[in-house]
Amino acid sequence: MTAQQRKVLVTSALPYANGPIHIGHLVEYIQTDIWVRFQKMRGHDCVYVCADDTHGTPVMLRAEQEGITPEALIERMHAEHLADFNAFHVAFENYYSTNSEENRVLSQDMYRRLDAAGLIDKRVIEQFYDPAKEMFLPDRYIKGECPRCHTQDQYGDSCENCGATYSPTDLIDPVSIISGTTPVKKESEHHFFKLSGCEAFLRDWLTGKHNTAEQGAPLQAEAANKLEEWFAAGLRDWDISRDAPYFGFEIPDAPGKYLYVWLDAPVGYMASCKHYCDASGRDFDAYWNTDSDAELYHFIGKDILYFHALFWPATLHAAGYRTPDRLCVHGFLTVNGQKMSKSRGTFIAAAHFARYLDAEYLRYYYAAKLNGSMEDIDLNLEDFVARVNSNLVGKYVNIASRAAGFLSKRFAGHLCRGLSDIDREVIAALQDASETIAEHFEQRQYSEAVRLIMALADRANEYINEYKPWELAKDPDQNERVQQVCSTSIELFRILTVYLKPILPALAQKVETFLDIAPLTWTDAKVLLGDHTIGKYEHLAKRIDLKQVEKMVDDNLSEQEQAAATSPARHGEAQQHTVAPIADTIGIEEFAKVDLRIARILKAESVEGADKLLRLELDIGDGEPRTVFAGIKQAYAPEDLPGRLTVMVANLAPRKMRFGVSEGMVLAAGPGGEDLWILNPDDGAQPGMRVK
Ligand code: MSP
Ligand code: ZN
Repeated sequence: MTAQQRKVLVTSALPYANGPIHIGHLVEYIQTDIWVRFQKMRGHDCVYVCADDTHGTPVMLRAEQEGITPEALIERMHAEHLADFNAFHVAFENYYSTNSEENRVLSQDMYRRLDAAGLIDKRVIEQFYDPAKEMFLPDRYIKGECPRCHTQDQYGDSCENCGATYSPTDLIDPVSIISGTTPVKKESEHHFFKLSGCEAFLRDWLTGKHNTAEQGAPLQAEAANKLEEWFAAGLRDWDISRDAPYFGFEIPDAPGKYLYVWLDAPVGYMASCKHYCDASGRDFDAYWNTDSDAELYHFIGKDILYFHALFWPATLHAAGYRTPDRLCVHGFLTVNGQKMSKSRGTFIAAAHFARYLDAEYLRYYYAAKLNGSMEDIDLNLEDFVARVNSNLVGKYVNIASRAAGFLSKRFAGHLCRGLSDIDREVIAALQDASETIAEHFEQRQYSEAVRLIMALADRANEYINEYKPWELAKDPDQNERVQQVCSTSIELFRILTVYLKPILPALAQKVETFLDIAPLTWTDAKVLLGDHTIGKYEHLAKRIDLKQVEKMVDDNLSEQEQAAATSPARHGEAQQHTVAPIADTIGIEEFAKVDLRIARILKAESVEGADKLLRLELDIGDGEPRTVFAGIKQAYAPEDLPGRLTVMVANLAPRKMRFGVSEGMVLAAGPGGEDLWILNPDDGAQPGMRVK
């Protein structure tokens, strides 16, 4: 085996640190883990690394909302994610974080290498800026009216109604979803990676020129076609900088500029590998230098193909590193034929699933569905129950339970030395499939592997049915034959366990204990136990009831509803908020330009189509009520406001909004959303009084 021992570095995409692992993610992590376990069983040197993807705006804002630091948030998520992976037997050599020292060094160095290669371009661009929150807004944090079909409430990058893609500055009446204010256009210098110059290299890479002959091309045909589309549309330079405030790594020698999270995230693969190499005495460069003899495999979902098939190989190559040998791209999970959905209860966290059902059953089901393509895979809950019960328990586990009793009761667990030709024949049939099954695993056609393994389980059951040990047992003259048939059954069961072990590692371990054997490797399918005594049969796996699955989904739904209903309780936690830096000094004359007035709220009402805004009518003492649209709807019920006094900016230029003209602004403090408090003057102040 060692003659052709492969050295392989495998990754799964780094999950975002701002949410839990769910059963959709698990399609990827289970798929990768099966492949890695298979390689190890084949005797290869396979290292599997991953990490949390910690940087960017969502983590920053969520931490702020929870009143904790981003570091505290990502530490908590890291522990949760790792627990989830453990529960599903996803076993990394290292599960790290992109917010690590190794990643900072490697990412900043990556930037320097790209810059030195002349591939960084600096350009001033205009972007939306939230003046209340004082930050540039990622596309997903801006909503407005679609410029094409005029549907309200669409995100800044694309319309869910008509599918149009556009830039946020094209939106009609844009609103910042962070503060509810209208964003303003603002210029800033950004750093771009010149992807436009990388097409020739990428085309080369795509042909597999950088790979060995056995590996072939780095992408499935469907993924390669996508790349052709992107080439045809023309590769655009990639904006890799973000302005402060941003949770990430600073760009070297560019104060206030940060590396965009998608630049440092894939470098996180390297950082996790580096940490592992340093801890285990391996050579990091041997994995990443251009003359590396290690294979590099990335497992990813189809949604992040652009980042992994264009930016990643291009930046690696430009920076003088080796490039990936293969991207293993998979589709998305659907549940009962539909997108995972909170309102149907099918948006299921990994931890929730594992509380109700054996995690390995999901591994088995996904394996039975995964075919190495980019097609979506469906978790049909009835089919899930049926397959686990009839195949895994009914066919496979059944073989052991049928044979074990006779062996332990009559023969003290001894397997017999001599088998008949008929016995050897059925054993050989199972053994002969070994390389075919291996090839299916290698190609990630797990569904084919499972189909074949179950056909072999059928063959084993036919054998048992034909010789019926329970009948033979009635005839004392057939005692030896009983031992032969049951021994053969155990051999068959053990061979099937070898084949299923990448998918069912915990069950395989129970089997190893039951059979009293060393951990199974792939070659064990070819040798027999022979003269061996097995241990006591302990129950290996039980059937599931559809009711259990239904309860899991129902409870998930009600837990989600409850969480949604109690989330306004955030108010109490907000005291620990972080304090924004004090703005530049101004003179009193500048302050005096702002005409602040005491205002009485006369009316407050919701605005149709705006989930953040209230329309306020304000009396400022001059008999001419002012209309103001305020982004305070999540913090105040409209019926609680009339009669209250507050403070408004009375000389703000009127602003035309989608819903009407806003004639000023009311003052409020807080990060936004539910955590917002309007100003309230002391008793005695009268509408119209100037605040100075
Ligand atoms: N953080 C990025 C990846 C950075 S890699 C340098 C990211 N994170 S993610 O949490 O959104 O997704 C992690 C992986 O899980 C991705 O490969 C993604 O395609 C996969 N999946 C997330 N939801 C999924 C489904 N519903 N179904 C199948 N895979 C899914 O993307
Ligand atoms: Zn539209």
